[in-house]
Amino acid sequence: MSKNPIGIFDSGIGGLTIAHAIKNKLPNESLIYFGDTKHLPYGEKSEQAIKDYSLKIAEFLKKNNCKAIIIACNSASSTAYYHIKKNINSIPIYNVIDPIVSFISKKYFNKKIGVIGTKATIQSGIYENKILEKNSSLSVASLETPLLAPMIEEGFFNDKISQAIVHNYLKDPALADIKQLILACTHYPLIQGLIGDFYTQEIDIIDSASQVALHIKE
Ligand code: DGL
Repeated sequence: MSKNPIGIFDSGIGGLTIAHAIKNKLPNESLIYFGDTKHLPYGEKSEQAIKDYSLKIAEFLKKNNCKAIIIACNSASSTAYYHIKKNINSIPIYNVIDPIVSFISKKYFNKKIGVIGTKATIQSGIYENKILEKNSSLSVASLETPLLAPMIEEGFFNDKISQAIVHNYLKDPALADIKQLILACTHYPLIQGLIGDFYTQEIDIIDSASQVALHIKE
């Protein structure tokens, strides 16, 4: 089993940010990556559809001898994690939300934490619920940014179009005065530069890749 691969999946290329971090932390592991570009974006799909797609992929990865599965997608992690765990109990299943919640709740106190993600992730309320459960001194300001994952998937990264969309979202009053921003979609590290450019003051932009990789390593 120890030589078997780790299975990683997302709706598209976003989860490669997680795969990349895992490869850095665990260079001797082999990985199988599944990007479900046929059904992208997950964030716009119904709960049932996300559960069905995710379970099918997880079963495929298990059939291909994966010794563990990482749901490298926040939309699927927030919607389908328990569904997959219930149906596949012979190997460990990891989501990308718990490691980041645990990191945030230990590191920050009395702060307003911004969260941007897909409709599925934000409407699930999972970040807010989990963060407040672990650290009630924090407050959480969430914003749906549904155009970003399809935009990235279409290759609009560092141009005027992507800059205008990113800036338009980030100027939303819901995110006013935040000093920490969680990138609650695994596609968003690919536009971290554009996100950072929007802010004139110092801000912590927190992506889950390194925390997830650290958690898997442990
Ligand atoms: N990368 C994904 C996430 O973390 C999904 C984007 C999408 O398919 O909507 O939520």
